[in-house]
Amino acid sequence: MMVTGNGKVFGLIGDPIGHSLSTFMHNTVFDELNLDYVYVPFNVGKKDLCNAINGAKGLNIKGLNVTTPHKVEIMEFIDEIDPIAKMIGAVNTIKFVNGKSIAYNTDGIGAIRYLEEITSLKNKKVIILGVGGASRAVGFQLSILGINELLFVNRTVEKAKFLINDFENKLNNPSLLNSKYLFSGFNKDIIFNYGGFDILKEQIKDCDILINATSVGLYPNVNNSPIDENILHSDLIVYDLIYNPIETKLLEEAKKVGAKTVPGVKMLVYQGAESLKIWTGIDAPVDLMEKVVMSKL
Ligand code: ATR
Repeated sequence: MMVTGNGKVFGLIGDPIGHSLSTFMHNTVFDELNLDYVYVPFNVGKKDLCNAINGAKGLNIKGLNVTTPHKVEIMEFIDEIDPIAKMIGAVNTIKFVNGKSIAYNTDGIGAIRYLEEITSLKNKKVIILGVGGASRAVGFQLSILGINELLFVNRTVEKAKFLINDFENKLNNPSLLNSKYLFSGFNKDIIFNYGGFDILKEQIKDCDILINATSVGLYPNVNNSPIDENILHSDLIVYDLIYNPIETKLLEEAKKVGAKTVPGVKMLVYQGAESLKIWTGIDAPVDLMEKVVMSKL
């Protein structure tokens, strides 16, 4: 890759960032599209977040991704935060425009973009396992896309209760209801629910989409699944946000009963595509991005 003096610089900040797949993904796209752009990983500790944002402005960097553990803390150093990202409470994409930093969250919308390609979300019942950062981004984004019911199941039940209270408050906020950011398909009568894993057996019977946002099944614990395989059924779409391994135990078991499965690689690729769109307006070649990521996993 050759970057000239007119080239544009994008990057990633996180700690650690050694395993970043986004670096391969974005640089391959820039090469493929013959763009004079480069994507650079920057290992930035918490105490340097402010310096990193000011430095990026000073160096005329065009855009940054933000990864673990900075998605929340970075917000205090940003000039403007997209309203949906503000409601999610975390950001992963920063765009620099005329010396100003504007931050977005593409994790949720990225995860859902692929789902929308394979099914309609309208009137669906969705169960999300886990209530961490990924769950929050995907859950909030789903809440405003016209689904009928969203159930959060978590090992620590109080955390799930806290999450849905927070969502309900935010979605009842008149400034959101009147804002241009709300999707046209928003169902204001969406039902929120929560509980522990004990309610799954009953609740999964009429569920359309099951999303795993827990870390259960993540490498190296590849023989673990968050749920009992006997309760899976063929009418489900099962989406595991874990991308390492590519096919988790949960997805393997879901496939066996005839459910449709979606691997976490889709979320990784589509959130990257959404970031690229924000920075450059370009519709990213998602198939190529997926191929690159798969080759590195
Ligand atoms: P991320 O930010 O990547 O979404 P996280 O914030 O660490 O991840 O959240 C991890 C989620 O996985 C949590 O919902 C956690 O449940 P608790 O809130 O009870 O801790 C869930 N999780 C982790 N290990 C689990 C396990 N062994 N069984 C069930 N849930 C688990």
